Amino acid sequence: MTRAAIPFLVLTLAVGFARAETVATLDSPGGTLTVSVTLDADGRPGYTISRGTLPVIAESRLGLILSGAPKLERGFELAGTERRGHDETWEQPWGERRYVRDRHNELRVRLVEKRAGKRRLDVLFRAFDDGVGFRYEFPAQDGLRDLGIVDELTEFAVAEPATAWWIPAGDWNRYEYLYQRTPLAEVGQAHTPITLRTSGGLHLAFHEAALVDYSAMWLRRTGAGQRLKATLAPAAEGPRVRRQAPFATPWRTIQVAPSAAGLYESNLVLNLNEPNVLGDVSWFKPFKYVGIWWSLHLDTESWGSGPRHGATTANAKRYIDFAAANGFRGVLIEGWNRGWDGDWFADGSEFSFTEPYPDFDLEAVAAYAQERGVRLVGHHETAGNVARYEDQLQAALDLYQLLGIDSVKTGYVADAGGIRARGPDGSIRYEWHDGQFMSGHHLKVVTEAAKRRIAVNPHEPIKDTGLRRTYPNWVAREGARGMEYNAWGVPPNPPEHEANLVFTRMLAGPMDFTPGVLSLMGRGGQKIESTIAKQLALYVVLYSPIQMAADLPENYARYPGPFQFIRDVPADWAETRVLNGEIGDYVTLARKDRNGDDWYMGGVTDEKERTLDLSLDFLDPGKTYVAEIYRDGDDGGIDGDRHAIAIETREARRGDAWSIRIAAGGGFAVRFKAPDALPGS
Ligand code: NOJ
Ligand code: CA
Repeated sequence: MTRAAIPFLVLTLAVGFARAETVATLDSPGGTLTVSVTLDADGRPGYTISRGTLPVIAESRLGLILSGAPKLERGFELAGTERRGHDETWEQPWGERRYVRDRHNELRVRLVEKRAGKRRLDVLFRAFDDGVGFRYEFPAQDGLRDLGIVDELTEFAVAEPATAWWIPAGDWNRYEYLYQRTPLAEVGQAHTPITLRTSGGLHLAFHEAALVDYSAMWLRRTGAGQRLKATLAPAAEGPRVRRQAPFATPWRTIQVAPSAAGLYESNLVLNLNEPNVLGDVSWFKPFKYVGIWWSLHLDTESWGSGPRHGATTANAKRYIDFAAANGFRGVLIEGWNRGWDGDWFADGSEFSFTEPYPDFDLEAVAAYAQERGVRLVGHHETAGNVARYEDQLQAALDLYQLLGIDSVKTGYVADAGGIRARGPDGSIRYEWHDGQFMSGHHLKVVTEAAKRRIAVNPHEPIKDTGLRRTYPNWVAREGARGMEYNAWGVPPNPPEHEANLVFTRMLAGPMDFTPGVLSLMGRGGQKIESTIAKQLALYVVLYSPIQMAADLPENYARYPGPFQFIRDVPADWAETRVLNGEIGDYVTLARKDRNGDDWYMGGVTDEKERTLDLSLDFLDPGKTYVAEIYRDGDDGGIDGDRHAIAIETREARRGDAWSIRIAAGGGFAVRFKAPDALPGS
């Protein structure tokens, strides 16, 4: 070997690639992003992404490991390409915005192995101006029909050093971790969405879209530095995914935006999902709800039977009266059914989804609710015993349908990897919350519920990948640390939590966070690291088409002023704008009521006091609004009087410049009341 060849060899080893040649490129419609598809000298496929002249994703591998067959990762040649442009605006039945534009360019790369057998694999790329999606497609072919996917080799090699906001994947508490901020080079194994800010100031998020009949993608940092590699959530046994060709994997998504706000405003994940397959879903309307819930987490009432049982007929009627008096459509009642006594956490083997406890008259309560113009929100906690739940699923949903209960919160409290599932031979085995089995289970519940016009909101779910577009009755889910951690979490949620969520978890879709605890006190008097104004802001900041007012009725009675905002704020929006924000620091959003002309605005900060300058250029032109402002009191904040709030009104017009002070750990909320439409106009 000559001396001159040595540096080239070192470089080649360092990036793990033989020299790669670009075989096809794809530009986004506005020319912002360019994807280059490569094949190296060994026929290994890869891709890069650049934004203008700036490399965003460096040479990254594509491929899969199959069981009982050679890997699909080298020895390929290009068999052809196909291209398509697409520009369409579609309407959401409910959401953060009514109309969504889907404008992308598509490139299908047909790969074929050079060796005998000539197996074929397509990679389909879609380039948007704010990100890229790609998926593998297995065409129908001889010799590649029953597939066991052991893992994916997909990589995301970030071209610049970056800071990452992430939670660990494969750890016992599923998605319920505090977000860590570390250099990308210190990420271990992470769930998606994972959000990055590069040294050049670009914002990136990696996630997936349309996770159907497949395992969730985790990302593991590999090699030195900046490279993330996909790894699939495990199955109880054997390969992580079993499928038959032809089929397509979920989309792997890479959002690219100049600002954190741009990440949240992107519709990429929704656009990569299939349109609604349920037909008319107008039977679901976004709503707010209260419930027998916070008292259970405070441990002042119990899920189980006995003297502290929360779900009694009388208590349920009290909540229904409270809901009816204050305009809440829903009343959640947890602990209504048999099975909570003893150690329900252990395996949920006692749960009945049709038999109420004797002190809870389900039929009478459901009828009382309907008389008062309210609906019960059903509850199915499985403790991860999916085998037992699936046995009762039809009967459980039939019962709700019969009683006019048209939404259900489900729950899968079990350690990650601890889902009790029935295998094909009838034996019990243990699955992951986000493996292929559970992606199938959730869709079974959602489609069975849809047949009965019931909406579904799972806790301890599989992550959101935008499937609400295809199944609009899959209205929300948990999948992060919610309010419950402020009751009993050690530690409780820190002040930066919600400013982290907006730019991480919320990129995936709606979250049933359950805000609105105005008492600001958890179990045994534990201090909640928030102000009242911040609790109000969360109704605008953390999107969900079902929003809980989580506190106790008696606590709302103590704070009638701020409670008015919770009564007023809608749960369905015509438009959404992110006015400012930095991941984990602060964020302000403005949203327009889908059923009226009012705008709402909410902002939150972390542990730092801030003054935000806001330009009200989102308001409709030519209107003078009456702004009802709820802001932290002058002596407010997490180290001051957390309950101090100033409520005031002033006029507002489009283009006005405001400056709002947020106390440490605080927030603000505003309702911009539009002038009444003139009669006849
Ligand atoms: C955990 C859920 O997140 C919470 O909302 C629910 O109350 C409990 N499980 C019991 O189902
Ligand atoms: Ca939970």
